Amino acid sequence: MLDAIRWDPDLIRRYDLAGPRYTSYPTAAQFASEVGAFDLLHALRESRRALRPLSLYVHIPFCANICYYCACNKVITKDRGRAHAYLQRLEQEIHLIGCHLDQAQRVEQLHLGGGTPTFLNHDELRQLMARLRKHLNLLDDDSGDYGIEIDPREADWSTMGLLRELGFNRVSIGVQDFDPTVQRAVNRLQGLDETRAVIEAARTLQFRSVNIDLIYGLPKQTPENFARTVEEVISLQPDRLSVFNYAHLPERFMPQRRINGQDLPSPVQKLAMLQGTIEQLTAAGYRYIGMDHFALPDDDLAIAQEEGSLQRNFQGYTTHGHCDLIGLGVSAISQVGDLYCQNSSDLNQYQSILADGQLATSRGLVCNADDRLRRAVIQQLICHFELVFAEIEQAFDIDFGVYFASLWPSLQVMARDGLIEFDNKHIKVLPAGRLLVRSVCMVFDAYLEQQNRQRFSRVI
Ligand SMILES: C[S@@+](CC[C@H](N)C(=O)[O-])C[C@H]1O[C@@H](n2cnc3c(N)ncnc32)[C@H](O)[C@@H]1O
Ligand code: SF4
Repeated sequence: MLDAIRWDPDLIRRYDLAGPRYTSYPTAAQFASEVGAFDLLHALRESRRALRPLSLYVHIPFCANICYYCACNKVITKDRGRAHAYLQRLEQEIHLIGCHLDQAQRVEQLHLGGGTPTFLNHDELRQLMARLRKHLNLLDDDSGDYGIEIDPREADWSTMGLLRELGFNRVSIGVQDFDPTVQRAVNRLQGLDETRAVIEAARTLQFRSVNIDLIYGLPKQTPENFARTVEEVISLQPDRLSVFNYAHLPERFMPQRRINGQDLPSPVQKLAMLQGTIEQLTAAGYRYIGMDHFALPDDDLAIAQEEGSLQRNFQGYTTHGHCDLIGLGVSAISQVGDLYCQNSSDLNQYQSILADGQLATSRGLVCNADDRLRRAVIQQLICHFELVFAEIEQAFDIDFGVYFASLWPSLQVMARDGLIEFDNKHIKVLPAGRLLVRSVCMVFDAYLEQQNRQRFSRVI
């Protein structure tokens, strides 16, 4: 697997286009306000009839401090009391959704994300989990994948102990960069020692897996200082790593305006950081899973990729793609059968709709036959780097070459450029094209022409 990626700067420069990350197809940019709570209830009825297993995502939007780079849906507040009103409404939502599901539907996966879920105090975390257990079939035998995003500045050994007791067995830890100069430039001061303490707690308490998030392209980063961060992170031995490209879109994300544009590394420096990071991680035994993700060979994601069962959804790469995904909380996205839908992203609106006893679904999309077909193609490419046309033809009763005839010239150019291997039976993304896999997926995206690409970040 060490040849999983081949570094080709020329190809990267040519194919480094702004594009979606394909955590769904069609992407959230296609969601429309015609889809609402009624559609969600209808989809839940189908899910219940089929007794499909569930994956839950619960969004806790609060953070005590602002990180200037942050593009997540969050509310910055020092007022811990704000969590109380939010949790009341979230519990109402859990109750409403739970009424439409069957207790036999096992919750195989749970993820608490944010914002900062550990903004909640211990009693609030206990109560939230009790409420989830009351209305949904959470597993008690530690067989589910139950994860939570941890900000080490907000968590200590006792928090980790509580989380384990509440049933969590995976943690995802935001680091971004350990260099103090970079940390000051993004207003996130987080020591290596406090991060190590949380990871040691996770290991001692037998959490199954630790993920670390890094970002390259932040202000004051250089290839040299970022290489030191990566070295320190490798010494912490996370099972998984996400290495995100910094998406600098100050028109969309206000706090990013506090970042001095002149402090940002140049495109050449960013490429050097990415190349260096890949070399360091592969030398340390990590495998490139795809997009921004790396994992140790014995991690579930790496195993699922080897076995051909890896999938991708709003939670990123997942081994639970067969589950219906239920998003709870402000801005949370659900994927139930052919329906995608999203709750209101406005905290006040979310809370007031639930206060009226309604679900806060504000937009979404129901996949049509063409969406389903392209979704399967994109999933296969982005998870497995290979697409055998006969499999799609069988599943969707089409002739691949006829259906996608208009795409042939683009694919031929990619093949000539060495991004893919391509004939009338299959497409294989070559090692030089793997970092650019979403550029290959973009060829199959029927909506891209109509979209304003500015809303997306670049591929690399
Ligand atoms: C939803 S955030 C929540 C994480 C958690 N609150 C923390 O800070 O540890 C998840 C990850 O998104 C990534 N992220 C946030 N803003 C980003 C941006 N502008 N560009 C790229 N990645 C970003 C960061 O790596 C962050 O850890
Ligand atoms: S990175 Fe995490 S802690 Fe920082 S503002 Fe974003 S969500 Fe909050």
